[in-house]
Amino acid sequence: MAKYKIAWMPGDGVGNDVMEAARIVRDAMKFDAEYIPADIGWDFWCKEGDPLPERTIKILKETDCALFGAITSKPRDEAAEELAPELRDKGLVYFSPIVRLRQLFNLHTNLRPCKAFPGNPLNYRNDIDLVVFRENTEGMYGGVEFHPLPQSVFDALCLNPKMKKFEAKGLDNIALSTRIMSKQGCESICRQAFEYAKTHDRKSVTIIDKPNVLRETGGLMIRAAREIAKDYPDIPLWEANIDAICMWMIKNPQDYDVLVAENMFGDIISDLCAGLVGGLGFACAANIGDEYAVFEPTHGSAPKYDGMYKVNPMAMLLTVKLMFDWLKEDEMATRLEAACARVIKENKIGTYDVGLSNKTLEVAEAVAKYVTEPVGV
Ligand code: IPM
Ligand code: MG
Repeated sequence: MAKYKIAWMPGDGVGNDVMEAARIVRDAMKFDAEYIPADIGWDFWCKEGDPLPERTIKILKETDCALFGAITSKPRDEAAEELAPELRDKGLVYFSPIVRLRQLFNLHTNLRPCKAFPGNPLNYRNDIDLVVFRENTEGMYGGVEFHPLPQSVFDALCLNPKMKKFEAKGLDNIALSTRIMSKQGCESICRQAFEYAKTHDRKSVTIIDKPNVLRETGGLMIRAAREIAKDYPDIPLWEANIDAICMWMIKNPQDYDVLVAENMFGDIISDLCAGLVGGLGFACAANIGDEYAVFEPTHGSAPKYDGMYKVNPMAMLLTVKLMFDWLKEDEMATRLEAACARVIKENKIGTYDVGLSNKTLEVAEAVAKYVTEPVGV
């Protein structure tokens, strides 16, 4: 029997292209795992009315972790239009399956390292090495939304006198998305960030929010960060507003180290950080819970490149490296990252985004060649 059981979910668009790249590398490494294919994504929404079918949830429950390619997410009305005719008028509502997965399996921590690999021609600077900790189940992604606004919700909100002025607009004309955050959720993501900083010898943790405007939720987050920071006296806590940090990240990204934020701000800042180190083609990510994890590059499904084997597989290969880290397969992780770094540094084989013309799988083959050599060769 193989050492690990891993759910294998290509998902949508270029998800399949990059998962094939992952397959080439994992096979070259002779990683001792059994892979269980699982259905997820847009096709299953259109054909079955559910982008995350029950059978997939069952597979995930029977595996150690999952590797995931990419997902197409569309707004509610556009999604409804693409449903199979027999499924229309059944009141089905599209909800992003990756967001659902994060909630269903309580994958509370989204870890997104953004490192400037030497030789990457797309580096904004060569001395950037950031790690984003994004809270992954709460905030604006909690899915508590209304449109039109029910009278009872309106009445409840009128506990706050600032709500009154919206009455004149008409409840049909009001949409509400909520940012619900818990002290436990805030403390947990801050602790993860500090623990990581401690174990990886990182010099600071920056908490990102907007407590001057979002006084309650932002305030909760900042207080949680300050409280957790007390347990780590050697690691300074820096505080930044989301708008200011976007500016500072462009001015002095090299000054930052570990960043931590709630769900939506973490989503935004992680794309910004990815842009500093080569873009989404290099951005790896891990959705981590207490017992389960789903590894998924930050990039989306890029439908226009679907099946063209054009996109950069580095994000996916570095995501596999995060999976090895999580499984505590340290030697595998080091070997894979070193092989990726070597291909990046040589800058001879690469996809269009780095100014070269190789296909996705050629880049994977180049990495696969180096993973079989001991580190340091
Ligand atoms: C990400 C993506 C997702 C998100 C989308 C696809 C729902 O942008 O993983 O960062 O917003 O979390
Ligand atoms: Mg995102």
